[in-house]
Amino acid sequence: MSEPDRSGGLVLPADDEGIARAIEALRAGLPVAFPTETVYGLGADAANAAAVAAIYRIKRRPRDHPLIVHVADADALGFWAEAGRRARSLVEAFWPGPLTLILSRRAQAPAHACAGQPTIGLRCPSHPVAKSLLSGFAAGGGQGVAAPSANRFGKVSPTRAEHVLADLDGDVSLILDGGDAEIGLESTIVDLSAGRPRLLRPGAITGSALAEALGEPIGGAEPAAPRVPGSLAAHYAPGTPVELVDASQLADRIADLRRLGRRLAVWSREPQLAGGVEWLAAPADPRDYGRMLYDGLRRLDRLGVDRLLIETVPAGEAWDAIRDRLGRAATGSGGRGD
Ligand code: TXA
Ligand code: MG
Repeated sequence: MSEPDRSGGLVLPADDEGIARAIEALRAGLPVAFPTETVYGLGADAANAAAVAAIYRIKRRPRDHPLIVHVADADALGFWAEAGRRARSLVEAFWPGPLTLILSRRAQAPAHACAGQPTIGLRCPSHPVAKSLLSGFAAGGGQGVAAPSANRFGKVSPTRAEHVLADLDGDVSLILDGGDAEIGLESTIVDLSAGRPRLLRPGAITGSALAEALGEPIGGAEPAAPRVPGSLAAHYAPGTPVELVDASQLADRIADLRRLGRRLAVWSREPQLAGGVEWLAAPADPRDYGRMLYDGLRRLDRLGVDRLLIETVPAGEAWDAIRDRLGRAATGSGGRGD
């Protein structure tokens, strides 16, 4: 027996019929939420000013933060952007997949998603549902789907249809349910629009994988980089204050906070079984951790404790994206405050 639908028909299985309805909605200028391999996106026709404006409204996102345009295949690149040798190498190596390219926008391409930037973010997702949606939309003449993560601005990204429903209920007319996002972390963003390639947001595709495909070193984000909300310190934040603690300090920190009467949830590799402490097991493999990161933060947030203590993750590039998101969750959640 299937689960009862508590969404009032808002959440549709991502089968042929659901995808066809989502394509119709996109053509009619309505935003729809859909799964990708990274996180769920809230998509709208990137060439329709009103549809793109609706995304900003629903997300409560400042208008000066640009959106990524999602395309069905690399052929769509030339419509939107000037793609040089570097872009072609990265597309060849990583598309479809969790990589967003920031490129110089072509003068005639619609600029609704670009928030006044002369550049555009482009991504071709590999998730089969996203691919069918984008190619069906393209078959009717659509050029691309502008899609930020389907959560309110600054909050934790959604990796399941139920997360989208919990965040955007009432504000979105259709959510395609494609199950759990396989990667669970937003795409790697690389800026190719000026001089040396720069990594603006770490993701599943690492800096060294990019450097190898490019055949040249890759720089980090600079403070003067174009706006990347994911790079604001206070992003990806749950409501409960988050504190990152090294494994070696965890037991002492738990004891200190319990003495102060704090109710705690701990996310660590070793079990922390003190009374008054909720514990969630942290995966030892970065891919497993990435897949459960946002669902884990949401679950811990719902416990209603005073503080989330999260064990810092290991050194090494494979953990870069997770370390980045956890750092922002800790900064954005209001700090320690005792
Ligand atoms: O994995 C992902 O990238 C997901 C899925 C839905 O594709 N999307 C996503 O979108 O994470 P969003 O809006 O939550 O994050 C997109 C980031 C933002 O930080 C935005 O500022 C940056 O991409 N971005 C988009 N266009 C840009 C541009 N022209 N220049 C610099 N940054 C840009
Ligand atoms: Mg986002």
